[in-house]
Amino acid sequence: MNIREDVVHVFKQKFADDPIVVRSPGRVNIIGEHTDYNNGFVLPGAIDKSVYVAVSLRTNKEIHLYAHDLQESFIISIEDLKPTAGLMWPNYILGAAAQLIKREIPLKGFNMVLTSDLPIGAGLSSSAAIECATLFALNHLLQANLAKIDMVKMAQQAEHEYAGVMCGIMDQFASMMGKKNHVLKLDCRSLSYEYVPFNMEGVKILLLNTNVKHSLATSEYNTRNAECKKAVALVNEHHSEVNDLRDATMHMLNNYVLPKDKLVYNRSAFVVREIDRLLQGCEDLKRGDLQALGQKMFETHKGLSEQYEVSCKELDWLVDAVKTNDAVIGSRMMGGGFGGCTISLVTANAIEPLVAALQPAYEAAMHMPLDYYVVTIEDGTELIYA
Ligand code: GLA
Repeated sequence: MNIREDVVHVFKQKFADDPIVVRSPGRVNIIGEHTDYNNGFVLPGAIDKSVYVAVSLRTNKEIHLYAHDLQESFIISIEDLKPTAGLMWPNYILGAAAQLIKREIPLKGFNMVLTSDLPIGAGLSSSAAIECATLFALNHLLQANLAKIDMVKMAQQAEHEYAGVMCGIMDQFASMMGKKNHVLKLDCRSLSYEYVPFNMEGVKILLLNTNVKHSLATSEYNTRNAECKKAVALVNEHHSEVNDLRDATMHMLNNYVLPKDKLVYNRSAFVVREIDRLLQGCEDLKRGDLQALGQKMFETHKGLSEQYEVSCKELDWLVDAVKTNDAVIGSRMMGGGFGGCTISLVTANAIEPLVAALQPAYEAAMHMPLDYYVVTIEDGTELIYA
C-alpha cells in the first residue's frame, strides 16, 4: 500500500466516510536564511517528502483529528476553536481552520487523518506543510475559491496565532507554490517570484539530520526577529525611508547601529550580507556556476553560526566535516536553526561513501545518530485523491 492508499484506508476505518486527500511538501532553502521576515529574498523549493491529509466534512460543528503516525486523536468544536496547550500538532490544523472563520468563510465540522513521510521537527517545515494541506483541503471541500497566495498568507498567520512563531512567509510559500525541478526566487515584500531551473547534472541535494529537535527555536527565533527590528529603528532615525533591513546598507549599519549596539549590529550585518549573497547566488545558479554558489553557502553558514548565532555544535560539526571534501560543493545549516538539518550540494556518486564515513564519526562525537535524505525538488500542494 502506498501512503495515499494507506491514509484513505485508515480514514475509512475511523470515520466510515469517503475523504479527499491533499499532499503538501516540506521545503529546502538553497540560500537566503532569516531574510524573509526582513522583507528580503529567499530561494526555496518544495521536496519529495510531504504531509498527507485525508479530509471529509461533517454534518455538525465538530472537528475530529487523528494523527496516524502518532496514533493520537483530538476533538474540538468550531465554537471553541483556540490553540491547545496539550498537543502541538492539532494547532497547525486548528490555526488554519481559524483563518477561514476570520475571512468569514462559513466553516463546517470536519474529519481529518494526518500522516507524513516528512521528518517532524527537522527544520523541513512540517508545520507549514500541515497548515497548507489543511487550507487546501478545506478550500476544496467548502468551495471557498481562495487563491493559492491567500492560502499561503493564511497559513503563515496560523503559525503566528496558533504556534506562536512569528515566522516569515518562506515555508508556507514554498510548500504551496513549489514547482518540480525549480527553486523559487521570492521577493518577500512584493511576493513576486520567479521559478529558477534547478537541474544540476550529477549533483544532488543531501540533507543531514542532526536529530537535534529545534524546540528552542521558538523563543530564540522571535528574539532574532526583534533584534532585526531594533536595527531598523536605529537606522530609521536617520533614514526615514528604511523600514526593513532589506533597505539598509552596511554603511548605514556601520554608522548608526555599530556605535549603539554590537549584538544588534552583528545580527543585522548578517541579514544585509545574506540578502546580497542570495542575489548573487541566484545569478551563479542561472549561469550554472555551482562552485560559486557552493562557496556562498559555506559563507552563509559561518554568518549564521558566528554572527546570527542560530547554529548549534552538531550543525557546525556537520558543516566542518564536509568542508574540505572535494565532492561537497556547498554546505550549511538550513532553516530556523538550533538543530534540524544541514543542506549540502554533493556529487551524486560520492554521497554513499560520504554518509558511510560521517555516520559513525558523528555518532562518536555527538552521541546521536545521523540520519540523511537525498531529496529532489517537486511540485507544491496538490489534491491527489477525490
Ligand atoms: C523558519 C521560518 C521561516 C524562515 C526560516 C529562516 O523556517 O519558518 O519563515 O524565517 O526559519 O530562514
